[in-house]
Formats: sequence, C-alpha cells, structure tokens
Amino acid sequence: MHDPIASSGVLANESVVNPLKDEKSGFKDITLRDLFEQDRNRFNQFSTHVGDILFDYSKNHLKASTLERLCELAEAANLTQAIEALFNGEPVNFTEGRAAHHTALRTPHTAIDETKGKLINDCHQQMKQFVSAIESGEWTGYSGEAIKTVINIGIGGSDLGPAMAVNALRHTRPTSPLSFHFVSNIDPSQLLDALEQSDPATTLFIVASKTFTTMETLQNAMQAKQWLLRAAGEPAVIQQHFVAVTANIAKAEDFGINNANVFPMWDWVGGRYSIWSSIGLPLMLAIGEEGFEEFLHGGHLIDNHFRSAPLEKNVPVLMGLISIWYSHFFGTASHAVIPYEHYLQLFPNYLQQLDMESNGKSCARNGIKTPWNTGVPIWGGAGSNTQHSFHQLFHQGTTTVPLDFIVGTKSPNPLGNQHDYLYANCLAQSRALMQGKNYNECMEELLKSGMSESEAVALAPHKVIEGNKPSNTLVYPLLTPSVLGQLIALYEHKVFVQSIIWNINAFDQWGVELGKRISQDIFNVIKGSKSNLDSSTEGLIKLKKG
Ligand code: F6P
Repeated sequence: MHDPIASSGVLANESVVNPLKDEKSGFKDITLRDLFEQDRNRFNQFSTHVGDILFDYSKNHLKASTLERLCELAEAANLTQAIEALFNGEPVNFTEGRAAHHTALRTPHTAIDETKGKLINDCHQQMKQFVSAIESGEWTGYSGEAIKTVINIGIGGSDLGPAMAVNALRHTRPTSPLSFHFVSNIDPSQLLDALEQSDPATTLFIVASKTFTTMETLQNAMQAKQWLLRAAGEPAVIQQHFVAVTANIAKAEDFGINNANVFPMWDWVGGRYSIWSSIGLPLMLAIGEEGFEEFLHGGHLIDNHFRSAPLEKNVPVLMGLISIWYSHFFGTASHAVIPYEHYLQLFPNYLQQLDMESNGKSCARNGIKTPWNTGVPIWGGAGSNTQHSFHQLFHQGTTTVPLDFIVGTKSPNPLGNQHDYLYANCLAQSRALMQGKNYNECMEELLKSGMSESEAVALAPHKVIEGNKPSNTLVYPLLTPSVLGQLIALYEHKVFVQSIIWNINAFDQWGVELGKRISQDIFNVIKGSKSNLDSSTEGLIKLKKG
C-alpha cells in the first residue's frame, strides 16, 4: 500500500498544537459579543468571497492570531502538497490503491491528461445525446410514446447526489415535462410508491450503481424489471426502459441492459463524490445539458480557488480548519447545516454521506488508532422549519453545536414579503446565537412588561440565553446550477482538509462492509439456514418468522 501523502499526524505535533491550546485559553473571558463590540469592522476582516458565495466566518471564536495558528497547523500537515496529490490524481485513497479524482470530472477536458480527458468527454457526449433523444421524443417507450417519468434506482452516492441536486435545481427549467422519483431503500414501500405514480409505457429506469453489486439497488431493479415486463410482455422492451450507470459494465449486461445503454464511471471516482459523473444523468435530464455544464463549471471554479488561494483566504481550508478548531480544541460533538432555501432541503442529508462516510474513521493513515476524535456528526434541515423544531437546543441546550447557515439573497419564487422574512429569520438565528440575552437584559425586559420584581427574579433564569454560539453564513445571490456546484465542491474540499489534519483516508469506507455481510447471514437464517448468532439477534429473528 503506497500512500502518497503519508504522515504520522500533525495533531501529535505539540509545537503547532500547543499555541492553539493557548489561543483557546484566550477565549475563556471573551465572548463573541465582546469581539463584535470591540471591533466594528469584524465582518470585513472575517468574511471573504469565492465565486458567487460570500463566506462570513466572523461569528466564530477567532482572532487574527488564531487564524495564523490554524494555518500553521495546516502547513505543518502538508496540506498544500496533499491538495496537489488530490488534483494530480495520485492514489490518495491508498487503502484501495485509487485516486479520488472527482475534480477531473469538472475540469475542461483539454486541461487533463489525454486518456482521462477522452473518457470523460466521451461519457459527457453519450449523456448529452441520450438527454437530447429523451427531450426530442426520439427515444420512446414500448408504446411509441415519449418518456414522461424517470425513476433512478440507486443508494448512497448513487442516490443522494442526484436526488438532492434534481430537487434543488428543477425549478431552473420549468418547461421540462419529466417527473422524477428516486428509489433507494430496500423497503418495498418506496419502490411501490414510485411505481404507483408511473405508467410503464412512459417510464425510464436509471439503474445507478458504481459496483452493480449493491443488494438494495439490484433487488429494486429486478422488481422494476418485472413490473415493466408484466405490462409490456416482451423482454426486448428492457432496452427502451432501462439504462445503467456503472463501472461494472459486465454486471449491467448480465442484468439485461445493452452495452450501448450503459453510462460508464470509473474506480477513481468515489460514490459520494460522483454527482459530477454519469451518476448526474438524472440532473442533466432535469436541467438540460447547459445547466449541467454550468453545474460542473461551478465546481471547477471552487477547485481553482482551493488549489491556488493562500490558506488564510482559502474558503474550504477555512471551513475545514474552523471545524477542527471547534471539535478538537473546544470539544464540540456535532455540526449542523441549515439552508434557508426550501430547494436545498436535501442538502444536509447529502452532506451526511459526504462528510460522515468520508471522515468517520478511527484508523490513521499510518495504521494506528487515531489518538484524537475524528468525524463530526452532521445534521440539519431547512430553515425556517428547523427553528420550530430543534433550534431550542442550539440556544439553550448544554451542548454547543457549531452551525453553517446557507441562504440566497433572492428567491427563485418571489412572493410578497416572504423571502425578506426568510432572510431575516436566517440572520436572526446567527445573531441570537452569537449575542444571547443575559440575566440583566431578561430582568429589564420582564420588569418593563409590568411583572413584579419577585416574579421576574423567578422567571429570568429560564429566559437567559447564553449566546457565544459559533456559526458560519454562506450567502449566494440566487440558487443556480453553478451556485449548487460551488456549494458542493466547497464542502467536498472542506472534508478533505479535515481528513488531512486528522490524518485519515477520506475516500475508503470499510466500515459499511461488516453490516452488509451480517445482513446476508441474517437473511439466510430468516430463510431457514441454521443460526449461529447471538441470543438477541436470534430472538428478534423469531419475531419476524412468527
Ligand atoms: O455502502 C456504502 C456504499 O458503498 C457507498 O459508498 C456508495 O455510495 C453506495 O454504497 C452505493 O454503492 P454502489 O454505487 O456501488 O451501488
């Protein structure tokens, strides 16, 4: 196993970690509110632009010296060399002997090595021709009618990216007559729901699986095939209703899909980084080839920035370092992402796989158990809904959850004052978290409202909001394909930065294998095989068998 970015781990290096511990101690008696009161210019100093996005990181426990120390940490971790290795397609996923070259997919073909450039270009051409045939009605179902419904069958990276992106961007092309369903779960209810809303004569299935061995996807695809054949009879119709996206062309052919209808992907693209590849086919169908190009361009714009901007002005580097700052030095245990954009409602789910499947590791690159905590649980949802569900814990809970707020300055669907209210709510949350409301302020407010002194004294402690809670805010003008591409690439690179500081491989996922194997063993026992399992599992199996 050759690791091109081998390291023993920068967090073990006391000469760079201790100055950060000193920085942390410096925040014992200074709150975020103090920092803003001391410096009216704080926003200008701690915000920066990249592409269409303004990144405001001023509501964090940072001084200029803290940022310098964090950048020293990144330098000591050889982050710049690691970024080069990533972009050069070196096998940074060394446990699988693979590159993680998703950035190549959004680089102009002429700017990458000829062989890879040709593979990517050919695949894009194949996707474009297919999309144009669907759009023009030249590609029909078995009855000769045009395709009206697209059902993507895939899971994990073969589902979350396209589902999120189609949901986020469909509005950019309101004339598209296609409707979309995403079926991932082995729970039959999801597939049946999609099939009930579809007509076999006008439905196209995209079977998306890099490996074409994933149980959920294969089972769902098999059921979908039977549903089609029950309506159409002739097995030859499969070619009009099924296409595959996979790196395992032979398996797709075994399933019955002609080579010509297989869109390739490659082992140097990880599942959770694959939305830029042919896994993005549903997105191209939804927003058209120009929209898809724009999406790729957005990602590429962030790549150029990530590769060339100095560390202290580099947005994904800052995002990664700030996250490490809180988790490693303040001991925070999770991170929330709250888009104030209805169309980004699936973005937190998407980020969960991207971040947690990448950085949920406890074996360091040098094979030892990491002596420090790594992957931070990611959660969230769309604001303002989340305000009425879990923000209470952010404001008054005993745990600090650093947050990212994401918001556009314009709505894709302006209506009365609603978007102004939305924007105001987003900003109000980050301000309230930063500012809080102290005991004296609560007392003053209660007394002003006419409450007696004794009643106010009893109630005030319940109303105190500590504040001093950190957040970033990412602001874009309008949610376009390019902006979405920029947002995704920012988070991809943030995750990479964290992995370098933690000294882990962000691109393998050995942890998911054991559960897959055990589920097969349990399935076999449910179907009658002899059991050699623990008593709890056996007890639970008995319930199923009745
Ligand atoms: O189970 C984990 C995983 O391997 C993910 O990393 C991947 O995105 C998903 O399963 C789906 O895999 P495939 O595209 O090969 O079906």
